[in-house]
Amino acid sequence: MELRITRLTTLWPSIHHFQVILLFCTSLLCLQPPTDCLRNLGNETDRLALLEFKSKIGNDPHDVFSSWNDSVNFCKWQGITCGRKHHRVTSLNVYGLSLSGTISPFIGNLTFLRFLNLRNNSFHGEIPQEVGRLSRLRHLNLTDNRLGGEIPLNITCCSELRILILARNRFVGKILDELGSLKKLVSLDLYGNNLTGEIPHSFGNLSSFKHLSVAVNNLAVNIPNKLGQLTGLTFFSVGVNNLIGTIPGALYNISSINVFSAPDNQLKGSLPANIGLTLRNLQDFYIGGNQFYGAIPSSFTNASQLEIFDISANFFTGQVPNNFGDLRDLQQVNFEFNFLGRDTNQDLSFITSLSNCSNLEILSFAKNNFGGVLPAALANLSTKRSLLGAGGNRMSGRLPSEVGNLVNLYALGLEENHFSGTIPISFGKLRKLQKLYLHTNLLSGQIPPSLGNLSQLYKLHLGIPELQQPECPIKRKKHKNSPLAIILATVISSIVLFMAITSLRVFCWRKSRKNPSSSPFYSNSQPRNLNLLQRLRVAIDLSSALHYLHDLCETPIIHCDLKPSNILLDNDMTAHVGDFGLARLLSKTSSNSSQDQTSSIRIKGTIAYMPPEYGIGGEPTTYGDVYSFGIILLEIITGRRPIDEVFTDSLNLHNFVRSKLPGQVMQEEKWEQKRLLKTMRVMMFKHKSKKIINVQKCVVSVLKIGLACSVELPGDRMNMTDVTRKLIIITEAFLRARTHTERQIVNHN
Ligand SMILES: *[C@@H]1O[C@H](CO)[C@@H](O)[C@H](O)[C@H]1NC(C)=O
Ligand SMILES: *[C@@H]1O[C@H](CO)[C@@H](O)[C@H](O)[C@H]1NC(C)=O
Ligand SMILES: *[C@@H]1O[C@H](CO)[C@@H](O)[C@H](O)[C@H]1NC(C)=O
Ligand SMILES: *[C@@H]1O[C@H](CO)[C@@H](O)[C@H](O)[C@H]1NC(C)=O
Ligand SMILES: *[C@@H]1O[C@H](CO)[C@@H](O)[C@H](O)[C@H]1NC(C)=O
Ligand SMILES: *[C@@H]1O[C@H](CO)[C@@H](O)[C@H](O)[C@H]1NC(C)=O
Ligand SMILES: *[C@@H]1O[C@H](CO)[C@@H](O)[C@H](O)[C@H]1NC(C)=O
Ligand SMILES: *[C@@H]1O[C@H](CO)[C@@H](O)[C@H](O)[C@H]1NC(C)=O
Ligand SMILES: *[C@@H]1O[C@H](CO)[C@@H](O)[C@H](O)[C@H]1NC(C)=O
Ligand SMILES: *[C@@H]1O[C@H](CO)[C@@H](O)[C@H](O)[C@H]1NC(C)=O
Ligand SMILES: *[C@@H]1O[C@H](CO)[C@@H](O)[C@H](O)[C@H]1NC(C)=O
Ligand SMILES: *[C@@H]1O[C@H](CO)[C@@H](O)[C@H](O)[C@H]1NC(C)=O
Repeated sequence: MELRITRLTTLWPSIHHFQVILLFCTSLLCLQPPTDCLRNLGNETDRLALLEFKSKIGNDPHDVFSSWNDSVNFCKWQGITCGRKHHRVTSLNVYGLSLSGTISPFIGNLTFLRFLNLRNNSFHGEIPQEVGRLSRLRHLNLTDNRLGGEIPLNITCCSELRILILARNRFVGKILDELGSLKKLVSLDLYGNNLTGEIPHSFGNLSSFKHLSVAVNNLAVNIPNKLGQLTGLTFFSVGVNNLIGTIPGALYNISSINVFSAPDNQLKGSLPANIGLTLRNLQDFYIGGNQFYGAIPSSFTNASQLEIFDISANFFTGQVPNNFGDLRDLQQVNFEFNFLGRDTNQDLSFITSLSNCSNLEILSFAKNNFGGVLPAALANLSTKRSLLGAGGNRMSGRLPSEVGNLVNLYALGLEENHFSGTIPISFGKLRKLQKLYLHTNLLSGQIPPSLGNLSQLYKLHLGIPELQQPECPIKRKKHKNSPLAIILATVISSIVLFMAITSLRVFCWRKSRKNPSSSPFYSNSQPRNLNLLQRLRVAIDLSSALHYLHDLCETPIIHCDLKPSNILLDNDMTAHVGDFGLARLLSKTSSNSSQDQTSSIRIKGTIAYMPPEYGIGGEPTTYGDVYSFGIILLEIITGRRPIDEVFTDSLNLHNFVRSKLPGQVMQEEKWEQKRLLKTMRVMMFKHKSKKIINVQKCVVSVLKIGLACSVELPGDRMNMTDVTRKLIIITEAFLRARTHTERQIVNHN
């Protein structure tokens, strides 16, 4: 009896203990299974889970998984690490092995997993919701796969997550607001997916956040103000999205930021005057391709670690701070496509200050208003392999022979300025030069024989002197009966690294006797197989020709009858505008006399291209041409003709495009996007370039111009100056990203 009681009392506590443990295990199973109670069962579960993971791998070219067999303890399988005490899998690390297949839901049973790295493979399908059971997971890297679907909500159960990297996959849908509840998150990288919606405000709660990248997606709306609370942020990257509005002021105050990258959005605003004092640890600053305006704050020189400064394609004005070169670590400086400079002799004094920047590789201030002479101090610029872009400004004087000291230059653009004199012989010292642009200047004399030494030069554009200052074609009213009645204005755009070279040429051209219903954009009634770039070029050719006729001639010329049959594409895909049979001058002085002329001109533009006001007896105006241009632009980009049977009175090409934006995806766009994603994939491994273009965005931007040109009310239409400028900016952005990508690949392969 004693014994029995004793036994009972000794037994009881152990039974009690056992029950408590069981209770503990079942209630908290998916949170924190205690090591002891699951040891025996647990390692078998892990083994099974790994075998299931293996069973979903379709292709294993490196034969990794043959080592995953029962002749060896699973802790020794390739890519597996186990905890020393509990023999449970803590790390699954199989990257860069060209594995394809899906991720098995059994992965959720590896409950001791802390580190999961499947990056750089070809996993497809979705991330299983079971991943939410990995309550110890700290580090998840699935970069560079083909995973799609939405980011699983259950991932927000992984409350230990510090690093979550899903870059360069095919995820869609919104960025979960709930990700903001992963309190320990340090790094979130969703770069290069197809995510929509906005950047969650809840991210402002992530007090440990250091690295945020949501670049290259389809995110819209404003950047949340709450991001300004992320006071430990070092990497902020939101480029190539559709973000609008201003950057929250508080973000400019986060002194820990090293990389501030927001290019290719629709962001606007001016930069705070003290930006260089607040962002004092800045290294890379990219805001190109937005709508920022105002001056470049001189405080940037206080951000003494600055290496990359790219504010291209914005609306900045004023002078570049003349002590900009105090930033000794500068590597890339890109001011191009702004309104900087005041056409004065002081404009370029910043160049002198750059002499001490011994790491400078890229300096472009092309397409601005910089005047004065090119300072001889250029000679002191870095002799690293480099690019100097100064084209499209208002510089004058002689080309400094000191440029010949920049012996490692591979691209030099000095075109479209007012440089005079001869080409310095010293240019022959630029042995590494691959591209040289000098056209559209007032240069004279011989091409120095020394240029023959430039063995790597494959692109040389010197310009043809007699075409440098085009005469306005029509000085008299009309040339109706002249055999050379037709005046042709055409723009040849030759597009090169980092800059578009656009030169205006004026030709005389015999009247075309083509079938009036023919269109250069079709052959045998099929859309011609032009790629997006060719289409953009045609659009720029046309708009520049009209810009020239409307805005640059002494007396504005209205074409009156712009339609595809009046446009010829030559073998270079250069567009020529012809048939000025209806062209008329817009009299500056007397509106009465112009009315007389009007009545004598029968407006007979093809209905579909004719502005609605002409149908009700309206005056021909430049805005009438703009309408026709708008319709043609929509046709060029969409490949649909406005005279298509599907179009009726209420559904015309304009309304059709408007109803499709922004979701429509054109055939070639899909193709371009694929090609780009592929290139991007190759490049992003090695480079941190954030300038990746989004073809869809490019197409949508151009279509928007087409729509803005073809609105009903003439006064609401864009003018050709703005149209041309915008088209060039869009094309530039497209090309810059493309050539940049290609250059990076060439340089590093
Ligand atoms: C599973 O755990 C038991 C008990 O700790 C241990 O003896 C056994 O070796 C483990 N098995 C594996 C495959 O790690
Ligand atoms: C099992 O894996 C080991 C290496 O871990 C390997 O040597 C052996 O050949 C594999 N066995 C089979 C049947 O593939
Ligand atoms: C990705 O994997 C491929 C082979 O599968 C390899 O060639 C490439 O170097 C890897 N890239 C990175 C960045 O690991
Ligand atoms: C592991 O996970 C799978 C799928 O999520 C599930 O069916 C299975 O019952 C789990 N448990 C064990 C012990 O394998
Ligand atoms: C994640 O994977 C990418 C690409 O394979 C790699 O470059 C990166 O270093 C990884 N990040 C982390 C934190 O492991
Ligand atoms: C996802 O999370 C919910 C809520 O925590 C849970 O009920 C569900 O079982 C989880 N799904 C999977 C597949 O683990
Ligand atoms: C991105 O998603 C949109 C719809 O959300 C889809 O129409 C488009 O094809 C997707 N693009 C890519 C490249 O997956
Ligand atoms: C996190 O952020 C959201 C949205 O900004 C807010 O509503 C919520 O209260 C925050 N949660 C915590 C725990 O701070
Ligand atoms: C940024 O910091 C300055 C002081 O350095 C402060 O005056 C300003 O209010 C801050 N701006 C925001 C939006 O927090
Ligand atoms: C900022 O830079 C200017 C000029 O380079 C210098 O005079 C000033 O002292 C700097 N301010 C701070 C706070 O470093
Ligand atoms: C370059 O650095 C030297 C030495 O610090 C300095 O004396 C000189 O003024 C600097 N030159 C320019 C152009 O800033
Ligand atoms: C280049 O720099 C040196 C040393 O700083 C200076 O003496 C020389 O005048 C500079 N040359 C020009 C053209 O500014």
